[in-house]
Amino acid sequence: AVQRTFSIIKPDATKRNLTGKVNAMIEDAGLRIVGQRRVHLSEAQAKRFYEVHAERPFYGDLVNFMTSGPVVVQVLEGENAIAAYRDVMGATNPSEAKPGTIRAAFAESIDANTVHGSDAPETAAEEIAQFFTDDQIVG
Ligand code: CMP
Repeated sequence: AVQRTFSIIKPDATKRNLTGKVNAMIEDAGLRIVGQRRVHLSEAQAKRFYEVHAERPFYGDLVNFMTSGPVVVQVLEGENAIAAYRDVMGATNPSEAKPGTIRAAFAESIDANTVHGSDAPETAAEEIAQFFTDDQIVG
């Protein structure tokens, strides 16, 4: 079925001017970018977005990194978009990401791993709603 997923192009990628290259890989994977905005996350926004990881040891570094520069928040649409995007992103840890994936191509470390993508339909809806109103998504 056609699904939507939420994506973030992270500060390591915007810093290296890789937004277009990442978007090309997204589109080559058959996903459509139906909403997109560049934003510098506040600490409050980053903390809320990653609240599920609040008790993990990497939470502080993750929030610091995600607020260190601009990000691009996106809504991607396509057949099985959540799994399709996870496939093209590659593993969270770039040392485990398969060749041909975004993280294998560009990620610098497990934090500076270039992209985020939702892991399930419920989280996708929740994450999209944190950054987009319905009229900002044009399919
Ligand atoms: P992301 O998909 O944005 O979700 C949480 C992020 O935490 C993850 O990508 C990684 O960039 C970062 N992270 C840092 N350390 C870890 C870890 N040990 N396990 C999972 N995620 C981690």
